Amino acid sequence: MLRSKIGGIGYYVPEKVVTNDDLTKVMDTSDEWIQERTGILERRYGKKHEETTTTMAARAAAVAIERAGIRKEDVDFIIFATLSPDFYFPGCGVLLQRELGITASEAGALDIRNQCSGFLYGISVADQFIRTGMYKNVLVVGSEMHSMGLDFSTSGRNVTVIFGDGAGAVLLQPTEEENKGILTTCLHSDGTYAEKLALINPGAHGGYHAKQLEEPVDYGYPDSKYGDMFVTQRMLDEGMLFPYMDGQFVFKMAVQKFPEVILEALGKAGLKKEDITMLIPHQANLRISQFVQRRLGLRDDQIWNNIQRFGNTTAASVPIALCEAYEAGAIKSGDLVCLAAFGSGFTWGAALLRW
Ligand code: UT7
Repeated sequence: MLRSKIGGIGYYVPEKVVTNDDLTKVMDTSDEWIQERTGILERRYGKKHEETTTTMAARAAAVAIERAGIRKEDVDFIIFATLSPDFYFPGCGVLLQRELGITASEAGALDIRNQCSGFLYGISVADQFIRTGMYKNVLVVGSEMHSMGLDFSTSGRNVTVIFGDGAGAVLLQPTEEENKGILTTCLHSDGTYAEKLALINPGAHGGYHAKQLEEPVDYGYPDSKYGDMFVTQRMLDEGMLFPYMDGQFVFKMAVQKFPEVILEALGKAGLKKEDITMLIPHQANLRISQFVQRRLGLRDDQIWNNIQRFGNTTAASVPIALCEAYEAGAIKSGDLVCLAAFGSGFTWGAALLRW
């Protein structure tokens, strides 16, 4: 049976380390609060105006492509997951193609807007393309340059302290080897809570605050000298161009959905939680990962956490963690690796891979 396997994997994080203490210089927060609630010690920020979501993705992709032993011109489809794209449109997929210097191939490029679970959705889509024989070398990337779009005042602290920049990439290829590669993927969404974790402005709706959904406010749209289409003066004046999160609500959903979707994937593949060798959860909050670990009865060496050093890198977090675990020798041939993510949308998913 034709399946897809990870032929190559790579990640990139910017050099600049931003500690919790660094953040206390610009907002009312503390190292103690951040560590206790999230487990985060530090995160990386890209170099403003030099690095972008796309350039970081290209660094990660180059490693994945090299490890897969192919030429970058052989990539026949690109899937790019991000919530912090270089442009509003076009998406980062085509920008990555250009950055890699492979436009001549005219390979297709697809952008995924599924935030924390974007990479899971990406590898699931790639897996379908490979299983049907449509493509042989599919590049799936998750990359985020959060630091360009966060609110560094105290009013943004519950969101800002969590996020970091970085990129991860895999090159998926077909395999006919028995019991190898992606065994199954499960994808879910529930748009009921779309605004619970969202950056809702700018948008074609004309602008409102996430908190005021029940009573939409007339913001006098269109009213902007910056362009009536999406951004209004009011949005700029009122700091409405930053992400909003109802942290406790998201937390409660996350600890429910993570175990649920992992058990669903195991059931679909005819496996049990005891069969998992390594769990790579989306690095949302160390407390969420620890909860999931306990629910599944996994030992400390069966879960990969790096949120302490990189913060939450949204679409990049799963491939970065997977790549780190692989490079550290924590994943070996034949191991059952479980990837899982939950986030804004809400969207969530899991994948089981036989390494
Ligand atoms: O990756 C996508 C999915 N995202 C997630 O899964 C995130 C899920 N949620 C969380 O991880 C947590 O909800 C947070 C870490 C975001 C927040 O932790 P929390 O324990 O839920 O805190 P909270 O938002 O309920 O706030 C508790 C208190 C508030 O103060 P008062 O009203 O009790 O006086 C906040 O103003 O903590 C305050 N607070 C902070 N204090 C210092 C919020 N952020 C900070 C901060 N530093 N950075």
